[in-house]
Amino acid sequence: SRTAVVIPAAGRGVRLGPGAPKALRALNGTPMLIHAVRAMAASRAVSLVVVVAPPDGAAEVKSLLADHALPERTDFVVVPGGETRQESVKLGLDALPEGIRVVLVHDAARPLVPVDTVDGVIEAVREGAPAVVPALPLADTVKQVEPGDPKQPGAPEPVVATPERARLRAVQTPQGFDRDTLVRAHATVTDNVTDDASMVEQLGLQVVVVPGHEEAFKVTRPLDLVLAEAVLARRRA
Ligand code: CTP
Ligand code: MG
Repeated sequence: SRTAVVIPAAGRGVRLGPGAPKALRALNGTPMLIHAVRAMAASRAVSLVVVVAPPDGAAEVKSLLADHALPERTDFVVVPGGETRQESVKLGLDALPEGIRVVLVHDAARPLVPVDTVDGVIEAVREGAPAVVPALPLADTVKQVEPGDPKQPGAPEPVVATPERARLRAVQTPQGFDRDTLVRAHATVTDNVTDDASMVEQLGLQVVVVPGHEEAFKVTRPLDLVLAEAVLARRRA
């Protein structure tokens, strides 16, 4: 059975600051998206990668993929994305051919995930889990607060609770799914969610966590670009 990856790459990258869409920004000279595509295609299990491009950037993404060396055993498809990450993932799922049983969803904004993490997720889905997420324990203690007035940023916010840190995990991608389960989740769940596995939780199915990796961090703010380029430089050394 074949495994496909959907890569949502349609976001603008507002938190990264002005410039090209985040996925097209360079890390040590190569677009973040190309790093992410290579990270997925590095897994021998992956036979298809669907890239969800910025809505007006599908042609540009197609030529980027053509211009960079990628493994020959992998097929690549590009589709335009939507307004939200959730919509973009759904548009990617709509492009999957028959015969795909396992689907990974991987943020273009996590360009440096090691192949062992990818393979670990795929293996757990193949062993029968309907949804698998890589995750790490937290370094910071987390507080739940009563959010303040958005018009008064920086005003003190009352703390509501402190969840036990040892039981919390920070979730990464690629998240892995039984294909039919993820398609059903996207057809059923309409709430705003920040990851795909939570949609499967809402179907009442058991999601499991496997070990993530520090290098699977999400490039979100300018400091993350500094870290990503340092990781790449260390790999080449
Ligand atoms: N994404 C997408 N379609 C959207 C929004 C986000 O495909 N409409 C993708 C991003 O390209 C990214 C991933 O979802 O690879 C994770 O989202 P995030 O890190 O939030 O990226 P952006 O939404 O681009 O960044 P920001 O929230 O700072 O604007
Ligand atoms: Mg976003």
